[in-house]
Amino acid sequence: MFCENAKLRSNGACKNLDLTMVVEVKKVGVIGAGQMGNGIAHVSALAGYDVVLHDISQDRIDNGLASISGNMARQLAKGTLTEEARNLALARITTSENVSSLADADLVIEAVSENEQIKRKVFQSVCPILKPEAILSTNTSSISITRLASATDRPEKFIGIHFMNPVPVMELVELVRGIATSDDTFEISKGYTLGLKKTIAVSEDFPAFMVNRILLPMINEAIYTLYEGVGSVEAIDTAMRLGANHPMGPLQLADFIGLDTCLSIMQVLYEGLADTKYRPCPLLVKYVEAGWLGRKTQRGFYDYRGEVPVPTR
Ligand SMILES: NC(=O)c1ccc[n+]([C@@H]2O[C@H](COP(=O)([O-])OP(=O)(O)OC[C@H]3O[C@@H](n4cnc5c(N)ncnc54)[C@H](O)[C@@H]3O)[C@@H](O)[C@H]2O)c1
Repeated sequence: MFCENAKLRSNGACKNLDLTMVVEVKKVGVIGAGQMGNGIAHVSALAGYDVVLHDISQDRIDNGLASISGNMARQLAKGTLTEEARNLALARITTSENVSSLADADLVIEAVSENEQIKRKVFQSVCPILKPEAILSTNTSSISITRLASATDRPEKFIGIHFMNPVPVMELVELVRGIATSDDTFEISKGYTLGLKKTIAVSEDFPAFMVNRILLPMINEAIYTLYEGVGSVEAIDTAMRLGANHPMGPLQLADFIGLDTCLSIMQVLYEGLADTKYRPCPLLVKYVEAGWLGRKTQRGFYDYRGEVPVPTR
């Protein structure tokens, strides 16, 4: 059983419990300093958690830190963050190219590329390093939590904590339990997420969960609409912004998410639900094969290298 209340614990009210189960999240490890990982580090540090941010190279870590600084500067300019809070948050973030830096983390959130083999390899290298009581989670957009959990040494301490992009701005987090996820793991993860002042939607563990199960087929359909010549990039985005009141056109949104991530999610839906309605559009495949992955590579359905984005078709 897990004792939720720190005061009760210090009063000894939980002394008959198995204390190896008691985890109070103080230190959060984030694996992957890309757009999601640096966002998770950003909001965790602002909420008062110590953070260690890990990626495979110093370059990637430096890019992640630069994004955090830039995003915090925007919050400062808007008046939603004070300089003191910014400085305290930045001081809470340490970085490392070495997984051993995750050894004292209470909660580790994996946010590496949306590729099951890469994620499995990460879990294999990280699990032996973690504290036995540490919770391991994934920010996967679509891959089965139950299957990923089976690649770890702690399926009962494994959970999906699915943040939305951009993490500092978007209020929702989907919490996804695998078949073995314990109640303690769920409650501790819920406490951490609420500590970030996010709103939780609990999803069952099925391909792409809720948000992406609905959103990605819409984006894929927009790409088919382009592929079949029904409309141009600009026409499709304008149509959905002004005709369906979406804040951003679907092709602009696809570039923002990352076209590699969009393709991976469609593949997970297509294979996981065995239904041809989820077939990834061949044009999406072509963009990914070209390495035109959207904003992160400066080119996708739009070219971002100039002053203003220009459609690439
Ligand atoms: N992009 C989105 O809109 C979005 C939204 C929600 C969830 N997600 C999910 O978050 C995860 C990350 O997506 P992203 O958009 O941040 O991708 P990204 O490409 O911006 O970043 C991925 C990072 O992982 C790092 N990485 C790769 N292999 C690694 C390893 N072995 N060890 C440590 N780091 C490694 C890369 O160097 C890179 O910095 C994916 O699972 C994705 O599906 C993405």
